Amino acid sequence: MTQDTTRPDAIVARGPDLTDLIDRLVRHDVVHRSLYTDPALFDLEMLRIFGGTWVYLAHDSEVPAPGDFVRRQMGRRQILIVRTEDGGLRGLLNRCTHRGTTLVGEDGGCAKRFVCPYHGWSFGLDGRIQNLPVPDSYDRLYERPFDLGQVALATRAGFVFGTLAAEPMEIDTWLGAAGPWLDQHAARYPGGRMGVQRRRLTQEYGANWKMSWDNAADGIHATFAHASYNHLGKEADTDTVLARNPADTPMVSKTLGHGHCVVDQRPGIPDGPWSTMRPLPTREALEDGLRAKGVTDPATWDLMTGDMVNLSIFPNLIFVGNQMMVVEPVALNRTRLRFYLTHAPDAPEEIDLMRLRVDEDFLSFGTPDDFEMFERVQEGLAVEEEEWIDISRGDGAGDVLGADGLVTGTVASEAPMRAYLAEWKRLMARPIPTTIRRARIEDSRFMQTIRRREMAKKGA
Ligand code: FES
Ligand SMILES: [Fe+2]
Repeated sequence: MTQDTTRPDAIVARGPDLTDLIDRLVRHDVVHRSLYTDPALFDLEMLRIFGGTWVYLAHDSEVPAPGDFVRRQMGRRQILIVRTEDGGLRGLLNRCTHRGTTLVGEDGGCAKRFVCPYHGWSFGLDGRIQNLPVPDSYDRLYERPFDLGQVALATRAGFVFGTLAAEPMEIDTWLGAAGPWLDQHAARYPGGRMGVQRRRLTQEYGANWKMSWDNAADGIHATFAHASYNHLGKEADTDTVLARNPADTPMVSKTLGHGHCVVDQRPGIPDGPWSTMRPLPTREALEDGLRAKGVTDPATWDLMTGDMVNLSIFPNLIFVGNQMMVVEPVALNRTRLRFYLTHAPDAPEEIDLMRLRVDEDFLSFGTPDDFEMFERVQEGLAVEEEEWIDISRGDGAGDVLGADGLVTGTVASEAPMRAYLAEWKRLMARPIPTTIRRARIEDSRFMQTIRRREMAKKGA
């Protein structure tokens, strides 16, 4: 392992050296512990990663009608994803432009307008200011930037991403090779209609948010960290997949550019995802119901177990089976995971009922293992004298580099880890200029009225 006596923990030494310093923290085969332990780096991540690049915010199906909104997190900013009257979407900062109060205290709902609870300023669904009390107590109110701040939004296959980048990369360019995987995930649903439940399940762990990324494509840990889960599967005579020897399964991991990656388990399960199904409460009755309805298409049955394709879109969206896991950094050593259950609105109801049971399965018996490991890694990384963490597995030993620069490896490869850390470095070392968007003042009808009134008064 490469050794270096530099102690870059003092990232607080900002300035021109910062780019060079960040460059040195992530090397091809090792990463410095300060990525997980330095509060100044965490602060920068909230600006440069959860601001400078596209961040997953919501699914189209969560806000179907005008006025529907959900409240989401983008770094330290709360964002309201709002369906406007014209059917479009806006990403509004949940921050009153008077004194900064959060406008909305709920995770979602339906509104005609947003009224600040502090002094009663109101804003339209498009973020434009609609009214405020005693407007005449301002001189030239119409010159003040009181419309809500906004982030840029872009959608692919129903998935809505936001960014503060002043000149964001085209969403399709940014998704790159991950785009078709995302399309494919949505296309599995009858009629291509995928539903995401707005109500989510939240769990927290006491470790850095990047642990979720280190773990997302880590095909080795499952055999060990999830031993009790695998044991349950063996007891029930089912193929748990996770219990196999990761070195000789045909499952593959692929890097997809910009930190995205995918683990494709399908080559290891020739009989399809349904063949891995474990005994679950109500399974027999639901199966009988489906057969009675004449459902024989394997793709429909596979909708219940998930597609066995674990797609991860850096920095915050990870697909696990039928669930979507969104990573929300809370603090340097505190992370919130939001689990969104998805459903198939146009499939027989047994499908969704079974999916509910499947969703409980790994979340109850597997996910807690991961959290324990994340917290123990965080504990271990407190040792300051051991500075570097190895990420070299697979490199030069099984990884295949394609002409497109993307790497395919076994599920034992750490190539996805190296790839997301390279993207981390790209975003952190040379920050992308960011900006808050705002509707132009002259667009607001309220302000136009105020301007006319004030002009008339002054002319009088
Ligand atoms: S802070 Fe919102 S109206 Fe005053
Ligand atoms: Fe795991």
